[in-house]
Amino acid sequence: MPDKKTFYITTPIYYPSGQMHIGHTYTTVAADAMARFKKMTGYQTYFLTGTDEHGQKIERQAREAEKSPQDFVDGIVEDTKKLWAMMEVEYDDFIRTTDPRHIKAVQKIFKRFFDQGDIYESEYEGDYCAQCESFWTPTQLMEGNLCPDCGRPTEKVREKSYFFRMSKYQDWLIDYIKTHPEFIQPASRANEMLNNFLLPGLQDLSVSRTSFTWGVPVDFAPGHVVYVWVDALSNYITALGYLSDDDSLMKAFWPADVHLVGKEIVRFHTIYWPIMLKALGLPLPKQVFGHGWLLFDQDKMSKSKGNVVYPGPVVRRYGADALRYYLMREMPFGADGNYSNEALMKRINSDLANDLGNLLSRTVAMIEKYFNGILPAPSNYEAVDKALIAQLEALPQAVETQMNALQFSQALAETWRVIGECNRYIDETQPWVLGRNLDDKPRLGTVLFVLAEALRFVAVLITPVMPATPERIFAQLGLEDADAKTWESLEAFGLLTPGLRVKKEEALFPRIDILADLPLLEAENDAELKGNAPDAPEEEKEEEIQAPPISIDDFGKLNLRVALVLACEMVEKSDKLLKLTLKVGDEERTVLSGIAHHYPPDALVGKKVVLLKNLAPRRIRGHLSQGMVLCAAADDDSILKVLTVDGDIEDGAQIS
Ligand code: MSP
Repeated sequence: MPDKKTFYITTPIYYPSGQMHIGHTYTTVAADAMARFKKMTGYQTYFLTGTDEHGQKIERQAREAEKSPQDFVDGIVEDTKKLWAMMEVEYDDFIRTTDPRHIKAVQKIFKRFFDQGDIYESEYEGDYCAQCESFWTPTQLMEGNLCPDCGRPTEKVREKSYFFRMSKYQDWLIDYIKTHPEFIQPASRANEMLNNFLLPGLQDLSVSRTSFTWGVPVDFAPGHVVYVWVDALSNYITALGYLSDDDSLMKAFWPADVHLVGKEIVRFHTIYWPIMLKALGLPLPKQVFGHGWLLFDQDKMSKSKGNVVYPGPVVRRYGADALRYYLMREMPFGADGNYSNEALMKRINSDLANDLGNLLSRTVAMIEKYFNGILPAPSNYEAVDKALIAQLEALPQAVETQMNALQFSQALAETWRVIGECNRYIDETQPWVLGRNLDDKPRLGTVLFVLAEALRFVAVLITPVMPATPERIFAQLGLEDADAKTWESLEAFGLLTPGLRVKKEEALFPRIDILADLPLLEAENDAELKGNAPDAPEEEKEEEIQAPPISIDDFGKLNLRVALVLACEMVEKSDKLLKLTLKVGDEERTVLSGIAHHYPPDALVGKKVVLLKNLAPRRIRGHLSQGMVLCAAADDDSILKVLTVDGDIEDGAQIS
């Protein structure tokens, strides 16, 4: 029995109707990051995920695949478990609704509802969406009797059914939601539930089916199977041994601290589930957090639309940590956001390869160069050191606050802000200048110690989101002591022991050649979509990463022009982006470019630069960027220069 503070977190249990995609990965990674964070901060955690395997939809799909439903789901579940392992997801339990432990408990739960009069037998006729396993009332249906969730046609279903007296609990639930503002998060979703579902009045819910058999049989009513949502929602307690011989987990971990769910299923988790729990006399989960959708080209992903992204190709190329970072960093948890391979690659290049990767490689390289690879001891801290140390010391608390609010993106932004400060600290202290003079050696030692210790802080803080990277950082710092890798070890700055032997290794995140990789990644995803993912051996993969040779016709697709910089300014709320106004012949164009670290805005005005004119326009921070200004960059991005033209030539001139 745990004697520590406990934390129980769940993902929805997924339909094993096809291979899990990046949307399912998103929820699962968020839950994993949160569980890891809680574990690190002293909680006894329990992280549950699993699969929701019953229902008419799965039954139909299995038939189409000429398999038994069980065989059909077994294969997908196996792949799902492999996917979570590949994503470094460490759950405590994986529940399947076909597990005998689950089936037995659901039968007992259903019987209990019946015995205490919460459910009664009657007949039902309604509009049913088999895809979403949902009945809809006439007012909820879209025109043409289409399902309001997925837009597919619904069908009229008439059958004998058991009904749950939802209406009995309606007033209690309204009051509960109103008096527990933390229960449904983000708060806007609570209003949605109250206004759209609860206040108009709850109808009794049909909770058994006789029109198909792939479900949990109602043991006292042959021919009936339990409605899939009653079956599925129960997983959160059946996995803990509710109504079984061993309910110690139930005692330790219920009520759950948070159910993470996509916004489309908040309704089930905040109306049916609380009512079921109330009927069972159990406390409600402390929070249901409804996160947004990961969109593709601003549209919800779906296999039938062919716009599904799978994690495999990204992970095989850039590693699970890079994808986990992107998913958790790119959009605030709660809001919808667009997934794009290009945005992923840009994040990897800027945040991981550039900001973090270079900080590590520069620090380790300088310790090797100036101190033979032995971590120097600090001497006196000067004001500039103290300022950075203060930022580092404040960081764990800031990260903790954001993580506790499930604001992964903010937590990472806090950390990366300080990584940025570390890089600025290098620019300011100029260790390469200190290295020229023997008298400056103690000062140089202090600077490099501060940087190494800052990297230790960062490595610990990113562990929940990027579980594999910290060890790679520690290895380069020569740090083995497990006590210096814990959350508590961040209470004091300076724990790193001078004398450690650092060791420069390969780049943490090699820079990606975006133009070369984009088509390859898309091709691999298409292959996965068609169900024949290439499972290339390691050596072959290396070759694939290289850009394929292109023909002169390919090159001809690029519309490259000379462009005159008429004006240039910083983009609001961004420290990287410059907004350039360009004259290209008779035309004026706006282009946003992430080069502000390398050019003060007015330094570019009057220059003739090279513009890729036919790059698809993109909206960035509210500005339409119409093309790309070409630049040359040093491997570590420490130097970056825009390409200009040798000699005088009119803007608008073609480049070939
Ligand atoms: N089986 C039900 C849940 C039962 S929970 C008691 C179900 N399954 S599902 O396979 O459709 O998965 C739904 C969950 O996957 C969503 O709630 C969400 O967490 C996640 N996502 C699936 N597609 C997604 C996106 N495109 N974006 C973000 N999350 C998505 O509903």
